[in-house]
Amino acid sequence: MADERSDQEVARRFGHTKDYPYGWYADYDLQILSEATKAGVHGTCEGALVEVGVYRGYSANVICRQAAGRPVYLIDSLELAGASPKDWPVGENVKHVVSRLTKWDDGPICVAHHDADHSFEVTHEHFEILGPHILLGGILAIHDFHELPYPGVKQAWDAFSLKGDFEPWGHGYSIQVFQRARK
Ligand SMILES: C[S@@+](CC[C@H](N)C(=O)[O-])C[C@H]1O[C@@H](n2cnc3c(N)ncnc32)[C@H](O)[C@@H]1O
Repeated sequence: MADERSDQEVARRFGHTKDYPYGWYADYDLQILSEATKAGVHGTCEGALVEVGVYRGYSANVICRQAAGRPVYLIDSLELAGASPKDWPVGENVKHVVSRLTKWDDGPICVAHHDADHSFEVTHEHFEILGPHILLGGILAIHDFHELPYPGVKQAWDAFSLKGDFEPWGHGYSIQVFQRARK
């Protein structure tokens, strides 16, 4: 049966406040992430959805709800206290990967969401690992893209070798979304 709960209802399940139901995300950020995920799935004819930085699965729930049965990889090293795969969304198409992201061998990607280590070095490495696999029409969503308090995230984007292949798709308060537009 289709999951007809609203995102707010999912948020309440995790006991979050009404102002910031998903911890680090405002409602508007989650709305943008949801719409961007949908755009990536519908803008490509194949590909997996990947989230790096799952914590307790708040943004992952939003992504899984728009996956349309495509494979979803939820990747987290669990190095932040409180992160737990017990809280992550589950499904036949959903794979839990408890590890740092160090490589990607699982084929084309239609949607990637980055919300992991916010240092320049690690974020840049993640963009370089995932970026070449993102399909034309696919989405790269980046949380904490602001200059402060995590300047390394935007610096990593500025140094990303495939930055020129992507165009801005939209943004929320704390999330910036790009779409792969040309080779
Ligand atoms: C801000 S939290 C993610 C929040 C999550 N998106 C949510 O919806 O609540 C960052 C997560 O990234 C994980 N992390 C940190 N460095 C990582 C790495 N190199 N690879 C994978 N996960 C990492 C941490 O364990 C932590 O759970």
